[in-house]
Amino acid sequence: MSIPPALSRSLKGSIAHVTGAGSGMGRATAEIFGAEGAHVAVTDFNGESAEAAAEAIRRAGGSAQAWALDVSDAGQVRAVTEAIAARFGGLDILVNNAGISAFSPIDSPDYDAAWAKSLAVLLTAHQLTIRAALPWLRKSKAPRIVNIASTEALGATSRDSPYAAAKAGVTGLTRALAVELGREGITVNCICPGPILTGMTAAIPEADKATYAKRRTTLGRYGDPAEVGHMTVSLCLPAASYITGVTIPVDGGLMARNA
Ligand code: NAI
Repeated sequence: MSIPPALSRSLKGSIAHVTGAGSGMGRATAEIFGAEGAHVAVTDFNGESAEAAAEAIRRAGGSAQAWALDVSDAGQVRAVTEAIAARFGGLDILVNNAGISAFSPIDSPDYDAAWAKSLAVLLTAHQLTIRAALPWLRKSKAPRIVNIASTEALGATSRDSPYAAAKAGVTGLTRALAVELGREGITVNCICPGPILTGMTAAIPEADKATYAKRRTTLGRYGDPAEVGHMTVSLCLPAASYITGVTIPVDGGLMARNA
């Protein structure tokens, strides 16, 4: 593979699909892509929230369209990916962001269900969306895949083993596909967010959030979804052409801190 001719920092005209983009980090990431001039395919299990996010991008002067998509449904993933490519004329960037939280102790009666759901939505879905996107990524001048894992992939919280196992799987999938697709110039990277203020953490009482952030992170606070979104978008620039197979914590220093 030769060095790409245009090491541009512009995403103008790029076509980006962000899953789970109706809320939290996905929405923030989609909005940043929109502000940078990309065409944004905003998909979410919750079609109404996807439409609201796409409308916000359009109102800000960007280009976006929404689709309802359950990333754990292989048929839907194929159909929506084809619709995105048909609407915008291809696909350059895939951000696998959709996620759920599924705390479950190992001896819980609900453990099998939590395990199956976590693996389906948080891990299997990544390979479904990637396989659906590959024909178009292969035609792109700057093909990029970013998978959103979690610091739970690197350390772990009690009663969170289905989630932690799925997220650790995402880091392995990222490395394996970076190796497999590297010769085609497709980069595959992974971000591990720490505690971020999104729909997923909204139910945690403010006082508990503040205590946790002070005790665990170096910066002493929860992160804003856009602070993850900017890292994701940076990995998708044409100029990010030599970064692949890496797992980057965006965690306010959580992983760096022992005490
Ligand atoms: P969020 O709850 O605000 O957004 C997640 C979005 O994913 C929602 O809009 C939801 O409708 C969508 N979704 C859920 N299941 C889906 C499915 N089957 N198909 C398509 N969309 C689906 O949560 P947040 O925090 O923005 O989550 C984004 C990603 O970040 C997730 O993968 C999550 O595991 C990860 N993460 C979140 C952290 C946090 O502190 N908030 C920390 C580390 C990782």
